[in-house]
Amino acid sequence: ARQFFVGGNFKMNGSISSIKEIVSNLNNAVLDAEVEVVVSPPAIYLQLVRESIRSGIEVAAQNVYDKPNGAFTGEISVSQLKDSNINWAILGHSERRTILKESDQVVASKTKYATENGVSVIWCCGESLEEREAGKTVEVVTKQLEALKAQVSDWSKIVIAYEPIWAIGTGKVATTEQAQEVHKAVREWLKSVSDKVAEDTRILYGGSVSEKNCGELSKQPDIDGFLVGGASLKPAFVDIINCRK
Ligand code: 13P
Repeated sequence: ARQFFVGGNFKMNGSISSIKEIVSNLNNAVLDAEVEVVVSPPAIYLQLVRESIRSGIEVAAQNVYDKPNGAFTGEISVSQLKDSNINWAILGHSERRTILKESDQVVASKTKYATENGVSVIWCCGESLEEREAGKTVEVVTKQLEALKAQVSDWSKIVIAYEPIWAIGTGKVATTEQAQEVHKAVREWLKSVSDKVAEDTRILYGGSVSEKNCGELSKQPDIDGFLVGGASLKPAFVDIINCRK
């Protein structure tokens, strides 16, 4: 069975004091021991979180580069993450795809490099409102997946996050039916890699997940967890981690 997974993507939010508060809240909470939890603070706070968070919670960078080291101003390497005991990275978030202009190929290359060098990846995909309204959701997500498949061969270190862009930060969560439909299509597509990858790969939902809507979403057969933005900065994040209790 796939282990339920909840990620917290802080995005470019927080300060030393607010992040210490989030960590202390998580450290003092009773968390469902069956859920894998990964939090992703801004790069400058990765070590602060790594050194202060309880054991059992992993830490993710929000980006990582696909070269070992060298003249790449502003980038962080996979070996630097591992040196700091950061074993995860979020890659291909829609904000990086749209605002920072990362292509499907760049995201796939970074995912390949990270996973081949020991850093697990929360790989994000999802359609815009315009694409959904044109009936192109599955086509768009499949194209993103195809670009990943063209470069990646080991899927064991990849967790997929389906995040419809129109649901991110808008308060407009996908309905359970809308989310399950895409998750099911992604799992069907994963069979083109192998039946085992389709069975084993966690598919998270992201986009306006809250303590109110997580319960219903978590009951869908192909929803294996969440990637939480805004609510991961609040005490309600604990309720989302515990949504199946
Ligand atoms: P919100 O939960 O704030 O909508 O953000 C979702 C997201 O983008 C997580 O990566």
